[in-house]
Amino acid sequence: MGKKVRILMVGAAFSADLHMDAYARSTDIAQIVAICDKDLKRVESLAQRYGLTDYAAYDDYEKAIEEVDCDLVDICLPNFLHHWAAMIAFKKGKHVISEKPLATTVEDAEEMVRAAEKAGKKLYYAEDWMFAPALLKAWSIVEEGAIGTPLYIRARECHSGSHSPFAQTIKYCGGGCMVHLGCHPVSFLLGLKNNQWTELVAMTSGGGDNNFIHKKMEGEDWSACIIKFADGTSALLEANYITVGGMEDVIDIYGTKGRMHIDLTFSSAINCFSIPGVSYTVEKAEITTGWSKPAVDEKFNLGYVNEIRHFIECALENKDAKIGLRGIDGLETLKVINLIYKSAREGIKITNDSLKK
Ligand SMILES: NC(=O)c1ccc[n+]([C@@H]2O[C@H](COP(=O)([O-])OP(=O)(O)OC[C@H]3O[C@@H](n4cnc5c(N)ncnc54)[C@H](O)[C@@H]3O)[C@@H](O)[C@H]2O)c1
Repeated sequence: MGKKVRILMVGAAFSADLHMDAYARSTDIAQIVAICDKDLKRVESLAQRYGLTDYAAYDDYEKAIEEVDCDLVDICLPNFLHHWAAMIAFKKGKHVISEKPLATTVEDAEEMVRAAEKAGKKLYYAEDWMFAPALLKAWSIVEEGAIGTPLYIRARECHSGSHSPFAQTIKYCGGGCMVHLGCHPVSFLLGLKNNQWTELVAMTSGGGDNNFIHKKMEGEDWSACIIKFADGTSALLEANYITVGGMEDVIDIYGTKGRMHIDLTFSSAINCFSIPGVSYTVEKAEITTGWSKPAVDEKFNLGYVNEIRHFIECALENKDAKIGLRGIDGLETLKVINLIYKSAREGIKITNDSLKK
């Protein structure tokens, strides 16, 4: 039997389920040895859903990391706890997978990157779009020259609002929809362009009373950023919480000799009409009656399965993840998102060069 990476999962809610599905498909190289959540019922329910019996359950992370013999800590906690959990893991000499965003502040994210270096361990940044099969295919079409030179990309993740209470306050979330959802298009574009952006300008709804719908939310419920890259491409990156009817993950690419439209959430091959309603169609769909497009293997198509496998393969060899999925990429995403907020707040265009002076 080959070597397996032994994993301590911390957080057993929504994103832990996405990761667990991926581990369940990589049992040849990954073994969940412990799951920790302050709510033990969630631990039991997660383990039960995936038929896991041989694992330790914890409701206290510091106790878990003290007692569990593991190689990697997978952090599926609310945004403000990523830093705390990662710093402890690096002190104990573990690799870390962190859900997005890497942290709620650039300072915390920088500290995480430094701690990984100091420990000689790897920090993996969980950006699933980097492994979405449709996006990988689209990019291979770009690379074969089928749409000429790419000129302009429009990318967005939008839905009707986060289920997490921690998404409501800037202290716990790091911002509003741009940091919570926009991190996907931002990371994806930065990953494609090797973080070589040159200038950006942004607007947001501003948060609180200024929001379109979510007046009790501190962060913004609508945001858009125009960003330019060193290779001359421009992009419009968008995130909002005012989109009903299911989550939109859409990317349009315009080239000199063609264009492409990629729809990650509504591209199912199934068209279904149901009078009583389907049990599940796509993430965040409010209703499932009438015509719908029930997702086929949503977790695979959004990239989680291959993302987790990539991290495990890297951890086995103590290797960095590919571009877009390293700790430094999570840090760059957070820096850009903070500049998006600055641009929107101050009504200014920001150039990357001006930051280096
Ligand atoms: N990549 C994606 O598409 C995606 C999707 C959803 C969420 N996320 C990210 O995943 C992370 C978790 O979000 P979520 O929606 O899964 O759940 P969540 O934010 O609602 O809560 C996560 C879990 O952490 C537990 N928890 C909180 N504090 C804890 C502590 N001190 N010790 C142990 N457990 C604790 C809670 O009990 C809960 O079960 C967030 O950072 C979010 O941004 C990513």
